Amino acid sequence: MDWTGWRRHFDERADRPLPTIGTPPPLDARTAARLARTLGVFCVGEGGEGRIAREIDHATLPGIDDDYRVALKGLVREEGRHARILARMLGVLGASPPRRSLGERAFVRLRRLLGRGDPGVRFKLLVLLAVEVVGIAFYAGLAAALPPGDFRASFDDIVADEEAHLRFHVAFFRLQPWPRWVFRTLWWTVAPAAAAAALFGHGRTLRAIGAFDVPARMQRLLAAVDAGVTMPADVPENTKEDLAAARGAIPAVASDSAAPRR
Ligand SMILES: [Fe+2]
Ligand SMILES: [Fe+2]
Repeated sequence: MDWTGWRRHFDERADRPLPTIGTPPPLDARTAARLARTLGVFCVGEGGEGRIAREIDHATLPGIDDDYRVALKGLVREEGRHARILARMLGVLGASPPRRSLGERAFVRLRRLLGRGDPGVRFKLLVLLAVEVVGIAFYAGLAAALPPGDFRASFDDIVADEEAHLRFHVAFFRLQPWPRWVFRTLWWTVAPAAAAAALFGHGRTLRAIGAFDVPARMQRLLAAVDAGVTMPADVPENTKEDLAAARGAIPAVASDSAAPRR
């Protein structure tokens, strides 16, 4: 696998300015407070991925080379940019800077418990892939539910990044020499749990804002990742897309195992 396209993708986007966020969305005080609480938790999560960028230097998993390592660091930098965008939103909502929640601390501990070395790195990347699903569904759901404005535009900006991250991680997992059932078992254990935890913790926010379709978005993305990772590489392109459609997947994710699309 040639990761230079991905390396270039992240390099070229590294110096993007943060979006202007000057106006809060028209929400009543209670809903705005709920949104701020949710964004605070996501802000901490977005800013907490630095460790994997160091651990990847020592990883020797199939498919990992120096271009992959640099690209992954670029991806982690983009997560840091998302944290800064969310922090700006919090400022506009009049909320104080976020602190690490109990759930977030437990999540980080869980990831650390999962071991060191290559197996630990691979599992952390799987968790990051699950987090991309949660992030895309949440940000896209919020963007769709909010009226046009700074918040919607910023969520759309983040979603575009996260969709590329999802394809990057899918490309990595396609290279792992696992039988399909191993990936499927892990994926359908870890990812729905992450999705359910996020829905449980922030369902009220989503309902208050009217982002009712977030669970359905998650479901589609979970299936898209499964299809994207486990689909054989040698089927013709149109068959791949048929398969993806049949599984309720998103073709741009499921059929892309190489360089990012623009
Ligand atoms: Fe992010
Ligand atoms: Fe991401």
